[in-house]
Amino acid sequence: MNSTTLAGIELDKQSKRPLHRQLYDGIRQLILANILLPGDQIPPTRQLCQDLSLSRSTIVDALSQLRAEGYLESWVGRGTFVSNMLPEVATHVVNPEFEQEVPTKQSIEQSLSRRGRALTAVPVTNASKSGIFRSGMPDTSQFPFKTWQKILQKHWSAPQIQNLGYGNSAGYFPLRETIAQHVRLARGVQCQPEQVMITAGAQQALFLIANLLLDQNDSVWVENPGYNGAHLAFKAAGAHLIPVSVDENGVIVEEGIIKASEAKIAYICPSHQYPLGGTLPLSRRMQLLEWANSQKAWIIEDDYDSEYRYTGHPLASLQGLDKSYRVIYMGTFSKVLFPSLRLGYLIVPPQLIQPFEKAREAIDRGSAFITQMALNEFMVEGHFARHIRRSRVLYAQRQQALLEAIAKLCPDLFETRPFPAGMHLLGWLPKDWSDIETAEKLYPLGISAAPLSNYALTPLERGGLLFGYAAHNETVIWETVKLISESLRK
Ligand SMILES: Cc1ncc(COP(=O)(O)O)c(C=O)c1O
Repeated sequence: MNSTTLAGIELDKQSKRPLHRQLYDGIRQLILANILLPGDQIPPTRQLCQDLSLSRSTIVDALSQLRAEGYLESWVGRGTFVSNMLPEVATHVVNPEFEQEVPTKQSIEQSLSRRGRALTAVPVTNASKSGIFRSGMPDTSQFPFKTWQKILQKHWSAPQIQNLGYGNSAGYFPLRETIAQHVRLARGVQCQPEQVMITAGAQQALFLIANLLLDQNDSVWVENPGYNGAHLAFKAAGAHLIPVSVDENGVIVEEGIIKASEAKIAYICPSHQYPLGGTLPLSRRMQLLEWANSQKAWIIEDDYDSEYRYTGHPLASLQGLDKSYRVIYMGTFSKVLFPSLRLGYLIVPPQLIQPFEKAREAIDRGSAFITQMALNEFMVEGHFARHIRRSRVLYAQRQQALLEAIAKLCPDLFETRPFPAGMHLLGWLPKDWSDIETAEKLYPLGISAAPLSNYALTPLERGGLLFGYAAHNETVIWETVKLISESLRK
């Protein structure tokens, strides 16, 4: 395939249909008509700009959409190709009338509830979910699958009848005991197993909390910049988000008190602020607890990746300092094991145990028991601790490799500093650069470094990119930083 074929795509610059959509249609039709075949290379963006007299962003939009739908695939350093595994629709004849009937964004929105609109208000991004440097991804290839398989097999081959019905919505009790012991020892959390609720990851836990504790227009402090998954859960509940600034030591508690002392909830990542990486000092922790106690507000402590601490001593959890039962502690297995496991947990204050169990019963009756049983055995037999120890060594090396690669290849493009914990680094961009545009330039190359602006509720003074390094070996890290450096200089 060469550029002359693509140059034959008819584009009508007077049409109301956006040009990126016309280009998308044109390329898709060439694939459906078997003119472009699996494995054919799409000319580079620069060449397409020239051949078709289109802007780079138009081309990037069209290619990204085709990639997202599975028509194209990109490989770092090699380019973009017609996918070898075309989506099923490509093997059927497409009814052009059906295409005409595709509902508009506006008509879809009108059909949704207010909550539905809040839930789906996330801007569409062209970042691939499997792209390099996507934030928050562990190296799933390191997971001991053989051990996991053996444990699962054992539980499936002799299932216990009492565990196959509707269990306790808070989860499999032995796992709750094991988690209680783990967080007591590793994080200084004070709890009894009854306070542990197993959830489908931290994200479900956030929705559960929002459903149970928030009324329409209640104020919630959120870190700014902060974890956008949490913002979404509170917005969907109709809450009023109060952005509280973050510095190198985490959230500025005093600002929250000045802005909204009456808030119902403060959502905080004290061990390792997401995404700026700060650790909340003791003085701010005490201030936060005092505020929550005096206002009868709740603090959500999101301890999403505290297992990966590389330097210094981790501060124990905020929950461990709480004498008035105002903290709801949240953990996830997504970062230490793998995200699709969809298991996390809450440690709720004693007075909330029953409401949480009832709410969970009403919503989905709880998480799958067999997986919880397997996870319990995985933890009790020491595989969990071993996997964390191994991953910690590996990720520390990878963070070092990323720091070195940036320092050598593009210190003028990204300002970085080591993070003492976690799975991502922040690369601050030069002051006048847009992080969103920079990230969009990298998506077509299969690089999914997220712009810092995605996590901010107010405009940032300076943008940056989040580099999730944990999932990639050192060779990939160096090659990708080189590619980023070259493409951003073009
Ligand atoms: C800060 C933070 N909290 C919570 C989560 C949610 O994790 P999960 O829903 O996979 O447990 C993430 C995931 O990226 C995160 O970055």
